[in-house]
Amino acid sequence: MACTSSERAERYNFASGPAMLPKEVLEQIREELPNWRNTGSSVLEQPFTSTAFKQLMVETEADLRTLLTIPDNYRVLFMQGGASAQFGLLPLNLLRSGQSADYLESGHWARKAISEARRHSPVNVIASGTEQAFTALPPLDHWQLDPAAGYCHVTSNETGNGLQLQEFPELSVPLVADMTSDFLTRPLPLERFGLIYASAQKNLGVAGLCIVIIRNDLLRAPPPGLPTAFSYAAQAEQQSRFNTPPTFALYVTGLMLRWMGRNGGVPAMAAAAQQRSRLLYRCVENSDFYLCPQRPADRSPINVCFQLTKPGLTETFLTEAERNGLANLRGHAAIGGIRASLYNPMPLSGVARLVEFMTDFERKHG
Ligand SMILES: Cc1ncc(COP(=O)(O)O)c(C=O)c1O
Repeated sequence: MACTSSERAERYNFASGPAMLPKEVLEQIREELPNWRNTGSSVLEQPFTSTAFKQLMVETEADLRTLLTIPDNYRVLFMQGGASAQFGLLPLNLLRSGQSADYLESGHWARKAISEARRHSPVNVIASGTEQAFTALPPLDHWQLDPAAGYCHVTSNETGNGLQLQEFPELSVPLVADMTSDFLTRPLPLERFGLIYASAQKNLGVAGLCIVIIRNDLLRAPPPGLPTAFSYAAQAEQQSRFNTPPTFALYVTGLMLRWMGRNGGVPAMAAAAQQRSRLLYRCVENSDFYLCPQRPADRSPINVCFQLTKPGLTETFLTEAERNGLANLRGHAAIGGIRASLYNPMPLSGVARLVEFMTDFERKHG
C-alpha cells in the first residue's frame, strides 16, 4: 500500500522480522532524535564511550534483568552479527577441542544452527521432526541425550514452521536456546539454561543487536582463531564494549524494554500472546477453508502458520490482505502458505482485523 504523507496509514505488519514497533516507541524516537537526553546531539552520534551512552547500557541491562528476573550468576552481552553468527559462535566459545554438542532438529532454524555448528565441531542430533515434516516437535522422552556433550541446543520457537517448545528440561549439560522469535514473550526458568540468545528485531527492537545471556561458569578464554569481538569472555569483561556496540539498536531495545515494563512486563506479554494466537487459531479451526497442519500442543503463539485448502488462492489472499492493510503474511520461502507473526507490539486489534478479513475472504472464495 503506497503511503505518501509522513503519517502512516493504519496498517498491521505481520512480518517475521524486522517486526512492527509500538506507535509510542516510534514517536519517542522521532521526538528525542535531534537532542537525546539533552546531550545536544542525536543518539546516532553518541560515542559509545560517553557517560550518557554507558548509562543507557547500564539501564538497558538493568531493565532486562528486572523483566526476566535474571539471576546474578548470569551475564548479559550485547553483540552484533545476529542469531546467525551465534550459530557458529556457540561451538567456538563453549566446546573444548573435539567435544561434541547435542542439537534438537525441530525445524528450519534448528537446521541452520546445526549446519553452522557442524563447520566447527561434531554435532549429535538428539531427535528430529523430519519424519513429521516439522509439523510437530519430538517429545522430550525421545531425545537421545549425550551426557558428555558440551551443551544441548534447542530452538525455543521455530519461526518458519510455527512450532514452540512448551517446556524446558533440566539437563545435566548446559541448555542453550535460540529464542530469537519468542524472547520476552513468556516467563522463563532461567536457572535451567546455560545460555540464551535472541536477535532484537522481532520482540524487542530493531536489527543489529543480538542479546546473549550466559551463565558465568561458561565464560572461558577464547580459543585461538576466534576474533576477540566474538568472544563471550572478552565481551563480558569489557561490558560489551570491546568494540562499538550497535548503539541505535541498543537504544531502541532500551525503549522497548521500558514499553514492556509499563505494559505489565513479561506475564502481560505472555497473556497477550495467548489471546492473540487463540483468536487466530480458532478462526482456522472453525473453518474448512483454512488448515493448520501443526500438532495443536506444539503450535506457536508467536508465528501462526496456516494454509488455504485451495492453495491456488494463496496469492489472491496475500494481495487482498495487503490491500486491506494486513502486510507481510507470506509464509517462509521454504515452507509456503500463510504466516502471521504476532510479536509483542502486535495489538489484538490487528489480529481481529485479520480474522475479519479471513472470514470475508472465505465467504467470497470458499
Ligand atoms: C529462530 C530464529 N533463529 C535465528 C534467526 C536468524 O536471525 P538473524 O537474521 O538476526 O541472524 C531467525 C530469524 O528469523 C529466527 O527466527
